[in-house]
Amino acid sequence: MRYLAGIDLGTSAVKAAIFSEKGKLISSASVEYPLYQPRNGWAEQEPEDWYNGAVSAIKTAVADSGVDPADIVSVGMSGQMHGLVMLDRSGQPLRRSIIWCDQRTAEECRELTEKLGYDKLIEITANPALAGFTASKILWVKKNEPEIFGKCRYILLPKDYLRYRLTGELATEVSDASGMQLLDIAHRRWSPEMLEAVGITENMLGKVYESPDITGYITKEASQATGLPVTACVVGGAGDNAAAAVGSGIVTVGKAFTTIGTSGVVFAHTDEPVLDRRGRVHTFCCAVPGKWHVMGVTQAAGLSLKWFRDNFCSAEVETARLMGIDPYVLMDKEAENSPLGANGLLYMPYLMGERTPHLDSECRGAFIGLSAAHSRGDMIRAVMEGVAFSLLDCEEIFSEMGIKINEMYACGGGGRSKVWRGMLADMYGCKVKTLKSSEGAALGAAILAATGAGIYPSVENACSAMTEEGDIIAPDKERTDGYRELYCVFKEVYLALKDIFPKLAPWRR
Ligand code: XUL
Repeated sequence: MRYLAGIDLGTSAVKAAIFSEKGKLISSASVEYPLYQPRNGWAEQEPEDWYNGAVSAIKTAVADSGVDPADIVSVGMSGQMHGLVMLDRSGQPLRRSIIWCDQRTAEECRELTEKLGYDKLIEITANPALAGFTASKILWVKKNEPEIFGKCRYILLPKDYLRYRLTGELATEVSDASGMQLLDIAHRRWSPEMLEAVGITENMLGKVYESPDITGYITKEASQATGLPVTACVVGGAGDNAAAAVGSGIVTVGKAFTTIGTSGVVFAHTDEPVLDRRGRVHTFCCAVPGKWHVMGVTQAAGLSLKWFRDNFCSAEVETARLMGIDPYVLMDKEAENSPLGANGLLYMPYLMGERTPHLDSECRGAFIGLSAAHSRGDMIRAVMEGVAFSLLDCEEIFSEMGIKINEMYACGGGGRSKVWRGMLADMYGCKVKTLKSSEGAALGAAILAATGAGIYPSVENACSAMTEEGDIIAPDKERTDGYRELYCVFKEVYLALKDIFPKLAPWRR
């Protein structure tokens, strides 16, 4: 039996998992690391934390698997997208990575749009200039930290930095590279116009591969640190959402998934690059060679509930600790006891600005309709419903674009909650399925690794062999009608508040 390693470099933690060639999870380990928010709307992480965390997670997963390390034939990586890692000529990080949810680059986005023109930007990168994407972050460093920009020799994405440390190769792959806003999405190669607009050269970037392609092998040093063998190849892998799609079997037209992780994503596979000229959803290359996907993003999905848990649910956290369960299980129960609409309470999930459907880095979250009668359970339910409404915003745009969804799956940490999945089924008005494995992106990375190692002839084949469907939640017509009514109010709230948020900006630290 051959084995695969799937590594998922997330925002809160890195996970390493060992799978059999049939997709069975053998062992896994994860290590958390800090997120630095030096200012309101800024978000940074330390590349060294990623590497140290990954090494220790891989080491534990390999040791716990009980398999002969020599049988681990291939490694796939998935990771948080869009982060900027700048290295000097000796490969040392020059500063903390500015990561995907950082919102500091509104001005640089305006400059990029002026320089290239909105239509040209969409034509090349399939997306308008976005604060979260890497290109505007490069411009920010160039303007605000010229001495660092001057020393910068290489620019990598988070998981590609890990690849560099594990294999010594400077490489990336199409799905993650799509989120840098430097790739020509239709042609799947770096865009000379974009590189020129940002002021960098192609030799500063990694070589672009398709996701299942072999990009290198584990170095002797990395092998000693992790326990992975030097014979293991490392394939391109994918951005976390493209990898989760593969891990959920979303590799053909008509299939889509909703993931609730730190961010929330609605993702649909397409055979062609389908664009939204208004730029409300992203069009990226997907992990299936020669194919694309569209995805809408809710910046603070799981993050909204985590924020609520950390600030207002110490009782649940303590009780859960004593019971030896996850606090979210208790929070789910409280949400379930609150009725649809949370007793007239709405939550806007814009804690980190928003992307879909509002390209707005200035907006922030809100509870609307609070009364003295509201309980913590109502607030938890409102947070979950607000996130689900925002995901419905994404799905609505897909319909407008003519993208038909026949099958919807749910994944990510939030996708494990039956209550949240039920809300999604009721709001979408369609069945929501799950996968037996909850490994999502790590499994997707392992499936790409299996394809690259030649165990399966294609990503589609590997998906059929390595994924299995789990349970299904059907929508309830009455609840769907209720949510549709409330959704109209939800949409109105943003319009009513959007001019208020910038006025609060001077008070943010
Ligand atoms: C996708 C996005 C997030 C990050 C973090 O565009 O920004 O999903 O990849 O998970």
